[in-house]
Amino acid sequence: MSHDEFAMEFIDMTKTFGEHTVLNHLNFKIHRGKITTILGFSGAGKSTLLKHILGLLFPTHGKAIVLGEDLSHLRELELREFRKKFGMLFQYAALFDSMTTFENIAFPLREFTKMSEAEIKQKVEDLMESVGLAEHATYRLPSELSGGMRKRVGLARALALEPEIMLYDEPTTGLDPITTKMVNDLIKSTSERNKAKKMTSVIISHDIDATLKISDYVAFLEKGQVVEHLPTEEFRKSQNPIIRRFLEL
Ligand SMILES: Nc1ncnc2c1ncn2[C@@H]1O[C@H](COP(=O)(O)OP(=O)(O)O)[C@@H](O)[C@H]1O
Ligand SMILES: [Mg+2]
Repeated sequence: MSHDEFAMEFIDMTKTFGEHTVLNHLNFKIHRGKITTILGFSGAGKSTLLKHILGLLFPTHGKAIVLGEDLSHLRELELREFRKKFGMLFQYAALFDSMTTFENIAFPLREFTKMSEAEIKQKVEDLMESVGLAEHATYRLPSELSGGMRKRVGLARALALEPEIMLYDEPTTGLDPITTKMVNDLIKSTSERNKAKKMTSVIISHDIDATLKISDYVAFLEKGQVVEHLPTEEFRKSQNPIIRRFLEL
């Protein structure tokens, strides 16, 4: 596989939990430096697929190759190191409630780098600016911030270690339309800003309207397989009955 063109590849990948087959001989490659959205009905296996990208789950059969690595060949310590290449933003930003914006964003820098206090301060300021967080948010606790602001803090923290891959699991589920638009614009602008570094973004979602606006590629997961994987404009026009049904819901 060309590691340059594709950030990850799933080869004939099957995942079963007991009798239950969740991923079923799945074949799928994700383009590097682009935004790919994986759509599917609830229970289709989207989060399960995401866990294979992080080496939190391993295939029962077949392979998951991420950034050129077959994850099932890595030891636990190597996996932990490997996961530093990822930034994650989940449905709930999962901030540390007792830490201010500054401390939340500084956390990965303190944990995983040897940066000085001055360097950390500069980096946190840069990150806050890049996600549109005003200075007055610096010493607020998450409970003192709006839902949209908390998402910005979560994204700034996820970007702190300059990840090669950003993963978003249902980033807009449960948000009001204005915050949804804000989060989408943020995903898009984050991807644009990191184009030169070829940062790859993977969004898992069932929110079609939101994601079709910002994605380069869309894949549709159904019964444990990717049944359609197309550039967004072509995906919209897909005549696959499963896709039509999903788009017309
Ligand atoms: N650890 C697990 N053990 C058993 N079943 C699981 C486990 N994780 C997920 N599943 C099952 O796999 C299916 C897909 O789940 P999931 O990947 O969370 O779907 P989605 O994110 O698309 O809604 C569900 O039926 C779920 O119950
Ligand atoms: Mg899920």
